[in-house]
Amino acid sequence: MNEGTTTNLLRLIGVPGTNKVMAGELSRLVGRALGHVRLPVPAKEGLGALTYPFDLETAALAVRYHRTASRVLWGLFQSRAARLEPLYDDLLAAMSAEVRPWFREGTTFSVSPANTRSFAAGGRQMVGVVKNAVIGGAARQGVRLTVDPENPDVFLEVRMHEDVVTVSVDLAGRPMNQRGYREEAGTAPLRENLAAVLVMLARYDARREVLVDPLAGSGTIAIEAACMAQGRPVWVVPREPAARRLAPFAEALAGPARALFADARPLVVANELDPRTHASARRNVANAGVGEFVESWSGDFRRLDPRRIRERATKLGFNPDRGVIVSNPPYGERLDPGELGELYGDLGRWCRQLRGWRAAFLVANAEFPSAFGGRPRIKKPLKNGPLLGYFYLYDL
Ligand SMILES: C[S@@+](CC[C@H](N)C(=O)[O-])C[C@H]1O[C@@H](n2cnc3c(N)ncnc32)[C@H](O)[C@@H]1O
Repeated sequence: MNEGTTTNLLRLIGVPGTNKVMAGELSRLVGRALGHVRLPVPAKEGLGALTYPFDLETAALAVRYHRTASRVLWGLFQSRAARLEPLYDDLLAAMSAEVRPWFREGTTFSVSPANTRSFAAGGRQMVGVVKNAVIGGAARQGVRLTVDPENPDVFLEVRMHEDVVTVSVDLAGRPMNQRGYREEAGTAPLRENLAAVLVMLARYDARREVLVDPLAGSGTIAIEAACMAQGRPVWVVPREPAARRLAPFAEALAGPARALFADARPLVVANELDPRTHASARRNVANAGVGEFVESWSGDFRRLDPRRIRERATKLGFNPDRGVIVSNPPYGERLDPGELGELYGDLGRWCRQLRGWRAAFLVANAEFPSAFGGRPRIKKPLKNGPLLGYFYLYDL
């Protein structure tokens, strides 16, 4: 017999291979904003998902500030049912006994599937079962809920991990990377949360180091670095997390979100060759509110004199002999293999002019390390959407 259970979990979903990074970021945020909360060690659900016992303040903080997660969820119910009927029974029982105040009379909700391919009946039928069980269970409590796929009060998500089905509230109501600052895509923009992962993996120390992206595209890495340094909210006004409209979160998410490290004054340089992409990067930087900290330069990185970077660093009180390059160079959809090898080789030579710095890259091209030269201190598989790439970290 299957048994449905009520759970109470804060769940962070992210890029596979980033559990440590996501946990590190949450500890940093909690340490800064919620001195009285002791964050427990999270449980891992596979390579890109963490769960913590649910705590309202921590969940509110995460959905507002956590930059490396792609979803921030409140796990409500779980079931090991392998077929639709027992899944319905489990969820109906759990929902009939549900006492948490995330729904009230008239609440509208939507249900979306995530990672449900392993369930025998398929995602769409699972969604139907979850909807019916939620409506039926609430009705048993005398509460009328309705489905609104377009503009619901509550975004429910049904997700599978191994043989466990979890129904959660998606607290942001959209992927966390849709922050609201990117008005235009560059040639191959990086997901915002993946850019934040690169900044974390490169161990950027914003108080002491300058960060440079010499092939910055639409500026995502630079923007994420500056935002992270300041602990800025993920969401750019008027965008806000859906949880703001949920009764339990009303107080924790009331009022405008402030930067948690507002006193930090990072220096980030974003350099881009293509004039249109460079113009779009500048707009994105302005939209994200970090124009004061991100310098947008244009041109071929090969002609970018490292002395110019060192001079800016010195002028703004940074050590010019320490810093970090973080970038995701082109992978080759448009360049021929010879040209690409040359570009990686030139990049290696350019970076080595900044002796004492570190350089971190996300690249999905096997030729990169030999063309760039030297040995990376870290090589770690990291997916960029469907592309399997590697994260490389070099000491220059
Ligand atoms: C993969 S994209 C970077 C995407 C970026 N991370 C983003 O999120 O938008 C690589 C970028 O390198 C730029 N690029 C190519 N060759 C360059 C060069 N020699 N100097 C500077 N930028 C260059 C391209 O125009 C492109 O925008």
